[in-house]
This record gives sequence, C-alpha cells and structure tokens, in this order.
Amino acid sequence: MKILIINGPNLNMLGIREPKHYGKETYADLLDKIQKHADSIGITVEFRQSNHEGDLVDYIHSAYQSFDGIVINPGAYTHTSIAILDAVKAVAVPTVEVHISDVNSREDFRKISYIRAACVLTISGHGTNGYLEAIDYLAQGDNQ
Ligand code: DQA
Repeated sequence: MKILIINGPNLNMLGIREPKHYGKETYADLLDKIQKHADSIGITVEFRQSNHEGDLVDYIHSAYQSFDGIVINPGAYTHTSIAILDAVKAVAVPTVEVHISDVNSREDFRKISYIRAACVLTISGHGTNGYLEAIDYLAQGDNQ
C-alpha cells in the first residue's frame, strides 16, 4: 500500500512556529517519525510540502491511480480552499485530513474546513501522532 503525505503552508516551520499549538518537533522530525511508523507496518509513504495552494492541488492530482490513500494537513488552506476540496473529490483517493492542533477549540475561523466533506476521516488535536493514526486508518481499510 502506498500513501501520499501532503503538508500545506507553514508546516515546514514546525518546531519554530507557535510551539504552544504545534509542539517542538521539526518538519524533519515529523517525516522521520512517519517514515519509521510506515516501515514498521509495511506501508510505503511519499512526502510533499508546499506553501502554495496550486502545488497542493497538483500533488493531490498526482495521487490519481498512483497512491492508495492520501494523508493531508492543508494548514490554513483548510479554512479557505474550495480548489483543494475539489481536487480530493476529483481523484477519489481515500483521504484523511489531519491537524496537529485542536482546530475546534481555537478561533472560530479554524472550525470551518472545506476539505472535510471529501475526507473519510478528520483527526484534529492529537499532535503529530495524528499522522500515524491516519496511516493506520487507511491501512486498516486496505485490509478489509
Ligand atoms: C493546522 C491548523 C490550521 O488552522 C493552521 O492554519 C495550520 C496548521 C494544524 O495542523 O493544526 O497551519 O492545520
């Protein structure tokens, strides 16, 4: 099973940006943690990150017929992007939305997620473990 892990804007700044919300692990730490977990359960993962909305749309399109699942943290585009919602709908690849912080207990604008409607699951507020839970969820679906 092959899963594409997509991170949106400012997630390359993990470890530096607002540690109160996002913790002290860096983006490199996050990738390492996900890779180790994927290896331990025999899943292939590839990583993409961009601060640009169109790049995220292109990454989602690239999953069409090439990946069995997508794990995406669209960052702030979660709350604004219909283009990212449409991209997930277009490829119809099972997609899990992940947020490191608990978006529902922060500002009101963070409670809106456009992409959620196209996702099989949303995980929010579990820190970076949320990415591992998302992989486990997709892996489980593959076994059923
Ligand atoms: C985030 C939450 C978003 O509201 C924010 O804009 C981010 C990160 C999270 O992982 O908690 O960039 O998606």
